[in-house]
Amino acid sequence: MERLTLDSETWLLVLTGAGVSAESGVATFRGMGGLWEDHPVEDVASPQGFLKDPLLVWRFYSERRAGAASVAPNPGHDALVAWERHLGDRFLLATQNVDGLHGRAGSQRVVEMHGNLFKSRCTSCDRAPFSDTTVYARGTLPLCGQCGEMLRPHIVWFGEYLDPADLERIEDFVQAAVAKRGKLVFLAAGTSGAVYPAAGLVDRVARAGGETWLVNLDPSENTHRFQHFVQGKSGERLPALADLR
Ligand code: OAD
Repeated sequence: MERLTLDSETWLLVLTGAGVSAESGVATFRGMGGLWEDHPVEDVASPQGFLKDPLLVWRFYSERRAGAASVAPNPGHDALVAWERHLGDRFLLATQNVDGLHGRAGSQRVVEMHGNLFKSRCTSCDRAPFSDTTVYARGTLPLCGQCGEMLRPHIVWFGEYLDPADLERIEDFVQAAVAKRGKLVFLAAGTSGAVYPAAGLVDRVARAGGETWLVNLDPSENTHRFQHFVQGKSGERLPALADLR
C-alpha cells in the first residue's frame, strides 16, 4: 500500500464522509438506498419536508440521535486524532458527518460542514445553536425555551447553504499552507464525492499545487480527480496509511 508522509512541512486537510462512520455502525446515505421507512430522505432532510411534516422530521432525527449516541468511534477516527496530534495547527478536518464521532474520538480542529446531530436551533429567534441530546418521544414537537416557536435540528438540509464561516475556515487553511510554502495535502475518506461544495475541495487543493489522496471502499464519483486512490475500509486503511516523521 502507498504511504502518506506527514512531516514538519506537511499541511493536511482531511475531508470525511459517511463511510468513515460505517464501521462504527452508522448507515451511509447511499447505503440507506435514499429511503427511511419508505420516505425519500429528501422528505425528512429538507426545509420543504420540515414545513410539511415537522413531527416526521423530528422522529427521523431523534432516531438518528439515539443511533449515533449508541455507537463508538472506530480506528479510522482514531488515526485522524493521532495525525492531528502530530501536525497541530497544520491539520484541519472538514467533515460532512453530523454524528459527532470525530469530536468524541478526540479530534479538535474540526469543521462540521453539514451541522451536528446533537445541536438544535430555533426556527424563529436569534438564539444561537445549542447542545441538544434529547431523543424526543414520538409526537413531540420541541419548542424554543426563549420564544416558544419550533426548534429544528442544526443540520444543513438538502437545498440549504453551508455556513460561510465554515467554508472560510477551510479556504484560510489552504491559503495559509500556500503562504507558508508548506507541503499541502488533501485526503478525502469515506465519501461518495457527489455533494458539493465538499466534493470540489479536491480541485481547490489541486489548483493550489497540493497532493491529493482518496481512501474509499468503492471508487467515488470523483476518483479520477485524485492523484492517489487507496481502496478499502477507512478503519483498516487510515491507521496504516501515514508515516509520521
Ligand atoms: P455517502 O453515503 O454518499 O457515501 C459514502 C461513501 O463511503 C461511499 O462512496 C462508500 O463506498 C464509502 N464507504 C462505505 N463504507 C466505507 C468504509 N468502511 N470505509 C471507507 N469508505 C466507505 O456519504 P457522503 O459522501 O458522506 O449531506 O454523503 C455526502 C452527503 O450526502 C451527506 O453529508 C449528506 C448527503 O446528502 C447532507 O445531509 C447535507
